[in-house]
Amino acid sequence: MHKMKVVYFDEPGGPENLYIKEIPRPEPKDREVLIKVFATALNRSDLLQRQQKHPSTKFENEVLGLEAAGTVVNLGPGCRGIFPVGARVMALLSGGGYGEYVITPEDQLMPIPSHMTFTQATAIPEAWLTAYQLLHLVAKLREGERVLIHAGASGVGTAAIQLSQLAKAIPIATAGTPEKLHLCAELGAAAVFNYNVEDFSEKVLQFTGGEGVHVILDCIGGSYWEKNVKCLAVDGRWVLYGLLGTSDVHGDILKQLLFKRGSLLTTLLRSRPLKYKAELVRAFIENVLPHIVHEGKLRPIVDSTFPMEKIADAHRYMESNRNKGKIIIEVRKEKPSDLQ
Ligand SMILES: NC(=O)c1ccc[n+]([C@@H]2O[C@H](COP(=O)([O-])OP(=O)(O)OC[C@H]3O[C@@H](n4cnc5c(N)ncnc54)[C@H](OP(=O)(O)O)[C@@H]3O)[C@@H](O)[C@H]2O)c1
Repeated sequence: MHKMKVVYFDEPGGPENLYIKEIPRPEPKDREVLIKVFATALNRSDLLQRQQKHPSTKFENEVLGLEAAGTVVNLGPGCRGIFPVGARVMALLSGGGYGEYVITPEDQLMPIPSHMTFTQATAIPEAWLTAYQLLHLVAKLREGERVLIHAGASGVGTAAIQLSQLAKAIPIATAGTPEKLHLCAELGAAAVFNYNVEDFSEKVLQFTGGEGVHVILDCIGGSYWEKNVKCLAVDGRWVLYGLLGTSDVHGDILKQLLFKRGSLLTTLLRSRPLKYKAELVRAFIENVLPHIVHEGKLRPIVDSTFPMEKIADAHRYMESNRNKGKIIIEVRKEKPSDLQ
């Protein structure tokens, strides 16, 4: 039986609980593909799963990791073979990315643009598919609309700013440091506000001539609700997709939302059925990937790279809120010959 190294933890807790363990290499089943992983990336939900504080307590894979980039090693029965053995792919996963090999449904694979390394490519699946889903499938963003993007320098935020621009909408971002705001502006945000030193809702109202924003992408939650509703335009859509702030809400939220005729929409990607994810991946390949391939018009933002052995340091770094864009885990070294 083939073995592989993965990042593992036995007990819920801090980053120090993470260690490298050998487990049997999985075999692809019906319409699944085995990938040799070169790089994976961190997501906030990895931190919650490690602490077992994630809203969904049952996971398909107890190994962390929601995305990976690598090469196809083996196809399970029933695969269409769109990505043959040896193809360079990036994948949306339901877990298991923090390991030397991972299994994923064939329909969750995307081709890696030829100019990209595995490190760059693995910054795409979870953040960009989430941002695409939020803007287009959930908020149904229209040309010319204004979008307020909280945590603008996060993995999801950096993708959402660029995708809003691609849709000819007007992104406005918030973040916690001048450096992060600078990145948001460089990526195309029309206005940027530091929530630590200014009231973003006042600033948004000033910037929009008192009209507010049509869409809010909110991964903060309860601690932002009043400011969000205040700067939401009439008939606006407030999309809640994370709870980095608080989940408790106090006050007359319903009244204020009703007076704006606002919609509160919520979404999670991970718990969606396979069919939904497959359709999302197909739409992304068709509508967004060409803009990444040609001229690098859109670019995934890589903050830093850690070797797999330093996984605990990578988790601590994300917990300190210092990253701008994605934190990558290099699972194995990439050789120049891998870059074709
Ligand atoms: N619903 C879904 O399907 C889905 C999918 C993927 C990700 N997500 C969510 O999307 C969010 C971003 O994920 P990510 O991996 O892109 O994150 P990330 O790169 O780690 O960035 C998160 C940033 O959020 C800001 N932040 C943290 N706590 C905050 C607070 N209390 N108030 C205001 N800002 C705070 C920090 O930046 P500042 O310095 O600017 O404060 C932090 O660096 C997370 O909440 C994650 O759970 C949801």
